[in-house]
Amino acid sequence: MKRAIGTIAVLTALTPIAGAADPQALAESKQCFSCHSLEMERRAPSFKLLARNYGGIPNADRVLERRVQLGGYGHWGVEPMPAAGPRPAVSEAEARELVAWILSMK
Ligand code: HEC
Repeated sequence: MKRAIGTIAVLTALTPIAGAADPQALAESKQCFSCHSLEMERRAPSFKLLARNYGGIPNADRVLERRVQLGGYGHWGVEPMPAAGPRPAVSEAEARELVAWILSMK
């Protein structure tokens, strides 16, 4: 019993919690950087380009949160952003944290 409690404590400490300090670590754990980068255009738009493109547009955050969860296609080029499956699933709270972070980039 004591041992089980110790394990839970360790897992809690290691698991990124939505709303917690480090959205970049969350993005790393969700493999966002296998296609995106902060500044460079790669196979996917950079996070700074997304911030410039969507910043200030009403409700852009809600739309993007859904695309982060479900994937998207045809807004930037020919390559789709896959839904979870090929990449780790993203909860609603995690999508909210990631998009708020992306849109805050200048
Ligand atoms: C397998 C490659 C890949 C991964 C992994 C990936 N993306 Fe994308 N993402 C793309 C591509 C490609 C696009 C452009 C899709 C399009 O043209 O509509 C995109 C678009 C986006 C957009 C803009 C959506 C739009 O409609 O303009 C956001 C925001 C985004 N990604 C965030 C993320 C986040 C956050 C993660 C990690 C949870 C992630 N992406 C993981 C490839 C990826």
